[in-house]
Amino acid sequence: MNQTLLHLTVSPRKTESYSRRYGQELVQSLCHANPGLQPTIRDLTSPVLPLPDEGFVEASLKPADQRTEKDESALALSEQLIAELSAASSVVIDTPMHNFTVPASLKAWVDYIVRPNRTFKNTGSGKVGLLSNRPVFLIVACGGPVSEAAGAQTDHLTPYLRYVFQTIGITDFRSKTLDRMRRGPQRVKQADLEALQWTRQHRLLSNQVAG
Ligand SMILES: Cc1cc2nc3c(=O)[nH]c(=O)nc-3n(C[C@H](O)[C@H](O)[C@H](O)COP(=O)(O)O)c2cc1C
Repeated sequence: MNQTLLHLTVSPRKTESYSRRYGQELVQSLCHANPGLQPTIRDLTSPVLPLPDEGFVEASLKPADQRTEKDESALALSEQLIAELSAASSVVIDTPMHNFTVPASLKAWVDYIVRPNRTFKNTGSGKVGLLSNRPVFLIVACGGPVSEAAGAQTDHLTPYLRYVFQTIGITDFRSKTLDRMRRGPQRVKQADLEALQWTRQHRLLSNQVAG
């Protein structure tokens, strides 16, 4: 049975990007190792998603049975992005770190897919996700060090995205950060190997049902 892999790619750098390169390698490897898996790409740099506007905010917070036609059209892009995510049995996101967290283009995507009474609901005991679980693979490239070491940056990217996916019901979250990518060719060589090894470890998927 054919299943869809949603590939979100984020770096504004098209040819020199490390995150794009490692993400493409992972997608190829997953598709090779899992026959029937078909990639569909959403490049968040073209087209760039518009920032959520007033119409979207009002419509997304309104109960579904009170929405007007105008509200429905304000939600159209969000519905399209949620449909892409829901239909995917697995997701690959490759992204740079920008100022310790996700680039603005990826944040806009998050704002469209995390929606009350659509992808999560509020309950007395907190938010409950409404999407079924599926693997999400995150590959991050950043210029400086991200680790426990003294002088390293605090990572507000990976924990944030893990929380976002958990909120909507997706807890199978696997991440790899390639840090210090601007610290010379030796480090890049080492990162190439790290990425390859991680890709090999994760390429086999058990059958996942989208929804
Ligand atoms: C606007 C901007 C903000 C950045 N912020 C960080 C940062 O907070 N931490 C870091 O280590 N690198 C930062 N970098 C460096 C990039 O993360 C690094 O160049 C990475 O390789 C970019 O990913 P790419 O190779 O996939 O394009 C920043 C770069 C830009 C352009």
